[in-house]
Amino acid sequence: MSSDKKIKIGLFGFGVVGQGIYNIISQQPELPIEIVKICVKDSAKQRAAPTELITTNKNELLQNSDIDLIVEVINNSDAALEIVQEAFANGKHVVSASKKMIAENLESLLEHRAQSNVSFLYEASACASIPLLRNLDEFYQHDNLKSLKGIVNGSTNYILTKIFEQNLSFEVALAKAQELGFAETDASLDVEGFDAKHKWIEVLLHAYGIKLKQEQLLNLGIQNIKKQDVAFAAKNNQTIKLIAYAKKINDEEITAFVLPQFVDNNSPLAFVKNEFNAVQIESNFAGEQVLYGRGAGSLPTATAVISDIIAVKNGYTYTYPKSKLANTLSFTNKQEIAVYVGFENLPDIPINEFSKIEKIEDSKEGKFIIGKILVSKLLEQQWWRKPSVSLITLAEPIAVQIKKEYSREKELAEVAPM
Ligand code: HSE
Repeated sequence: MSSDKKIKIGLFGFGVVGQGIYNIISQQPELPIEIVKICVKDSAKQRAAPTELITTNKNELLQNSDIDLIVEVINNSDAALEIVQEAFANGKHVVSASKKMIAENLESLLEHRAQSNVSFLYEASACASIPLLRNLDEFYQHDNLKSLKGIVNGSTNYILTKIFEQNLSFEVALAKAQELGFAETDASLDVEGFDAKHKWIEVLLHAYGIKLKQEQLLNLGIQNIKKQDVAFAAKNNQTIKLIAYAKKINDEEITAFVLPQFVDNNSPLAFVKNEFNAVQIESNFAGEQVLYGRGAGSLPTATAVISDIIAVKNGYTYTYPKSKLANTLSFTNKQEIAVYVGFENLPDIPINEFSKIEKIEDSKEGKFIIGKILVSKLLEQQWWRKPSVSLITLAEPIAVQIKKEYSREKELAEVAPM
């Protein structure tokens, strides 16, 4: 397909992202992309696209032999799955931004894609504008990364920024994130950490070749964070971010979770504000690197979709080079993490479940416990999900450091002239 001919696409969805895709393509006629049809739910709505492009009949796209590639950016994950499967069955390439649909059906989608021998790219679904998945596959192909720490949900980062910097209430900040088109139609997916979890399942596949099921990855959002937690962070020169975390804890095992985390004010992730996302990568050889950019919004998300369309036109498909690691690397939740647990009533907290208690404060100064607890225990139990309890990991939740330590000093010493 890497000819001079334009790649012909059928677009499902004309919401925030679909419209962004249409705008970028129509404003740049030199792009090697032609939109043949746009399928929408409601044909009566006024749209900034020629009416002859619009249809409500999915077969005009899926059965259209003129269309090479289906772009799917709708907000209903069941309908999205049907579209993608039918596109595969009809031998059409797919570019998708539906993280929930992808994370929930990872195994079967990868199988169907392979059988159909088409490309299936979904960069926009992970961190909108940040070129993350292709870089994890290609650039870091040789690097069995030591850790990844990400802010991968724009809405919650926007809300936390407004709470910390403008003292806005949670509700007002969420309403603004919705108005700006950052939040999902069902905003609880953002607020409760499910959207971040879906994205992290994709990231873990590309970074480590691990295919996780929903129930294996611990997640909590920002819904329980209270004023006293915000004050505790500020007192310690920290902020709170919703962090998707993954770390190799030894040569054979990796652990991961999505939880609110205290972040030092001078750490790179503390500078990630509003709807921006960032992923801090700890490479075995390059040390720390940060990928940063807008994690939500119309044009930032659309730009990743367009980049994927052009990549497909150029013959690119994910090859999942990290999947060979799956033979030597396994996922575990049997890992202690250092946490702060804010509470209203101390008896609500099962203290015996902690493997170590560092501090209990139950006074006017604050109401919290600092200690260590196994991720697997949290997964089995529900007490920490209560609205009166706020579970937040400390800035360095896992202390272990594996070998192959990158050291700038060591490197300089090794290359220093004799
Ligand atoms: N609701 C998502 C977010 C949109 O806030 O990050 C981008 O995936």
